[in-house]
Amino acid sequence: MTVGLAHYIERRARLAAQMQPGSVAVLATAPEVARNADSDYPYRHDSYFYYLTGFTEPESVLVLAAAQGGQPARSILFCREKNPEREIWDGFRHGPEEARLQFGFDEAWPIGELDARMASLLANVPALYYALGHSAALDAQVAGWLKAVRAQGRSGVTAPGTTHHLFGILDEMRLLKDEHEQGLMQRAATISAQAHVRAMRAARPGMAEYELEAELLHEFRRNGAQFPAYTPIVASGANACVLHYNVNDRRMLDGELVLIDAGCEFDGYAADITRTWPVNGRFTEAQRRLVELVLQAQEAAFAAIVPGQPYSAMHDAAVKVLAQGMLDLGLLGKGKFGSADAVIAERAHQQFYMHGTGHWLGMDVHDVGAYRDVTAAGKPSRPLLPGMALTVEPGIYVRPAPGVPEEYWHIGIRIEDDVIVTDKGCRILTGAAPKGVDEIETLMREAR
Ligand code: GLY
Ligand code: MN
Ligand code: MN
Repeated sequence: MTVGLAHYIERRARLAAQMQPGSVAVLATAPEVARNADSDYPYRHDSYFYYLTGFTEPESVLVLAAAQGGQPARSILFCREKNPEREIWDGFRHGPEEARLQFGFDEAWPIGELDARMASLLANVPALYYALGHSAALDAQVAGWLKAVRAQGRSGVTAPGTTHHLFGILDEMRLLKDEHEQGLMQRAATISAQAHVRAMRAARPGMAEYELEAELLHEFRRNGAQFPAYTPIVASGANACVLHYNVNDRRMLDGELVLIDAGCEFDGYAADITRTWPVNGRFTEAQRRLVELVLQAQEAAFAAIVPGQPYSAMHDAAVKVLAQGMLDLGLLGKGKFGSADAVIAERAHQQFYMHGTGHWLGMDVHDVGAYRDVTAAGKPSRPLLPGMALTVEPGIYVRPAPGVPEEYWHIGIRIEDDVIVTDKGCRILTGAAPKGVDEIETLMREAR
């Protein structure tokens, strides 16, 4: 039996319980994608599919039939058959029978039988739960199944009269992380924090950014993480002011900062950490002032993460601190703005802080789930609930501009941690990666 099997069975039961009685949900995993000639991109399952099955083989489809009358809900897997020859080339496949036993499905069939079986699985079913538009290939298949069911109309068979967007239910389920997920997220966060420490220890002026990227990837993989959760950003000097820089090919100079935004994916769950520190191990005064401002903004954001309070409160709290800091450091010119509130009203802080303070985190680094209550008037930011996972990532990015003190030019700083909302506030998953000025200087000095 697969690890955590009960969690996948329980999630399927929870989904089925939210479906119309007797209706059917269809969900496919991700396709394999060719890179060129005979090489594929590394295979990564679909997050929704994995959430409900724990099954990582390509060419798999889950069909979930909701309970009706005395009939309990049924989970049906379609997957690749055993194939001794293909298994010599590509490795192990479970095959339907083994997959059924190992992953707790009620039935399992070869993927080649999907079209033939769906016509009867959808007969006399009131509603279909499906993610229309997610895959053009599957959309065409589903259209074929519906046509086949409708063609039986003369013999009294009815086709689904309604379709529902499956991800509407699944996004809300995925937004609240259960205990199993929280454990995996903690593991991804701990490995990622260790990787940041490894990069801090290895850094020396004159090294290339990609040498630090190599340290990160080494630490991810040697701890069993399957992938980076996203392309690592190793941005030294002025590159740190390019928010999605990831070429990582510049030589890092003495006296510069390096901003590293990197996290691994462990058993399907992402971490997302940013740290910014001096390549030579010692912050300059100007660097220290900006880092301390961002840390203060992050503290204010953490304090605003309270169940029942809106998601947006942490961004508002961080922006308030950053705007005041921009005024105090003279970044916004002399006497132009009388208060942080005036800066925010004019959106003047966006010259140096142009992104949000976080996002949902889970299987996807920018995880699913609505940020607003779209059913309420004005669509306000939704209240936080225990079990939600998010990043907290304030920053400041100073590009040269008239009136901006030169000592801050080209400094880009972001400090990003991952948290889970608890009954009282939040629990930080990524605390093992140092971020304070003294902590980092001590660690880097000891590594020399
Ligand atoms: N690493 C992507 C992000 O911070 O949102
Ligand atoms: Mn992030
Ligand atoms: Mn990040």
